[in-house]
Amino acid sequence: MEPKTKLNISKEEAQRIRARVRAVQTISGDLGVSRRAVQADAPGLLKLLSDARVSGDVYTLPRPFSLNSISAWIRDHTQQAKDGRGLLMVTEDERGQIITLTDFQFWPEYSACEFGGVIAAHLQSQSVGTKGMAHLCDWVFKQLGIRLLVMTTSPQNIRSHKLLRGLNFTQMGEMDSVRPDGSVRKSLYWELLREN
Ligand SMILES: CC(C)(COP(=O)(O)OP(=O)(O)OC[C@H]1O[C@@H](n2cnc3c(N)ncnc32)[C@H](O)[C@@H]1OP(=O)(O)O)[C@@H](O)C(=O)NCCC(=O)NCCS
Repeated sequence: MEPKTKLNISKEEAQRIRARVRAVQTISGDLGVSRRAVQADAPGLLKLLSDARVSGDVYTLPRPFSLNSISAWIRDHTQQAKDGRGLLMVTEDERGQIITLTDFQFWPEYSACEFGGVIAAHLQSQSVGTKGMAHLCDWVFKQLGIRLLVMTTSPQNIRSHKLLRGLNFTQMGEMDSVRPDGSVRKSLYWELLREN
């Protein structure tokens, strides 16, 4: 997918965004520090995503889940990070279990970013998502210099809708989201400009 709003950005600004994305290794947040996913995370991610309460609603995930599909997904994101176009970040708890996953996609040429995340089931509905999203929106705007955030949500994902409305995102109709296997899901489409 591409952002519906296409901002006019200079080549220099797009290059700066790409360089900042390439340099990201960690993001600090309320739940600790998230870091780039590496191949050794594949079993932990398989465990997290095998829980339908976590992965059920998210169209970007590499289904069907297996060590192979998740390893390939991590490899693809390692390349995206090198290109300054994507990041796959994970947070672990004190026992080394992966408790959050955030998948960022960047369009440096439009100064735009989309990200989606999942939270381990035992931490859901306790404001972790609301606080984490607010923090990541700030981080994307301030640290990376992005001007436009776009989001897609499944029409049934009430928690995400409430969360995005609370953060001042504007709902701008629907769009087709294409899953990695090529199938299509109708999504609600949202945008937030940095100045808002
Ligand atoms: C969606 C998700 C990120 C939300 O994070 P969360 O920490 O669980 O949600 P929060 O506790 O911050 O609540 C967000 C909003 O939903 C409301 N909410 C929480 N649980 C709810 C429930 N069971 N039913 C309806 N509303 C609920 C909250 O009150 C809050 O709304 P408010 O700000 O108007 O009060 C998280 O639940 C998750 O990872 N779900 C599985 C994966 C997923 O759907 N990811 C999003 C893809 S777009």
